[in-house]
Amino acid sequence: MSSEELEGQRRAYARWAPIYDAVYHRFLADAHRRTAAAAARAGPDILEVGVGTGLVLSHYPPHARVSGVDLSEPMLRKAAEKVREKSLAQVRLIAAMDAGRLGFRDGAFDAVALPFVITLVPEPEAALDECARVLKPGGEIVIASKLGYDTGVQARLEEAIDPVMKRIGWSAAFKISRIEGWARRRGGFEVLAVEPLFPAGLFKLIRLRKAG
Ligand SMILES: C[S@@+](CC[C@H](N)C(=O)[O-])C[C@H]1O[C@@H](n2cnc3c(N)ncnc32)[C@H](O)[C@@H]1O
Repeated sequence: MSSEELEGQRRAYARWAPIYDAVYHRFLADAHRRTAAAAARAGPDILEVGVGTGLVLSHYPPHARVSGVDLSEPMLRKAAEKVREKSLAQVRLIAAMDAGRLGFRDGAFDAVALPFVITLVPEPEAALDECARVLKPGGEIVIASKLGYDTGVQARLEEAIDPVMKRIGWSAAFKISRIEGWARRRGGFEVLAVEPLFPAGLFKLIRLRKAG
């Protein structure tokens, strides 16, 4: 990933950090709760990539051992504040890291959660390769994002409202098929589920399992 692209993301989220929770806390709560639940079902060792201000962290159960990483220091400071103020003992690490270069050993985690980040990463396939690397055999990648279908009634609905959604920063350009294509080409991953999330199935949860 070019350092310019990463710098652009850093600048954007330095602006978002002070207002992110006020804008998104309620709107993303369903997706956040279900992402954490799906990741925790895969096992206790969880990596959250793009942890942002830490809105997902309180949804992980107390027995989990969660590491949260993100590019943006201002977003990470908010996450660290939450961990302290809410005494979230399940959070073991908050650290600055790029999704494309994860500083963890191979096979370290039962689950890698990516809530609302994969569509922002310039090379999503490279980031997914990194997630796959740090995942234990039998572990799961759990993705929640605004992901579109290629065909069908839902795809037509998504295209119809895309101009409005784009204006508020939620394009349907990133398709579920891109993630499915990565899994197929890479091999050793099974798409377990694609589930609709609030609002009206525009956000989706995808679970992929690494072969055991
Ligand atoms: C839309 S926010 C989502 C935050 C949080 N996951 C949530 O759902 O509330 C996207 C986050 O991804 C982070 N991000 C963007 N590109 C990244 C990258 N290449 N590596 C790590 N984090 C990244 C941003 O800094 C930002 O905090």
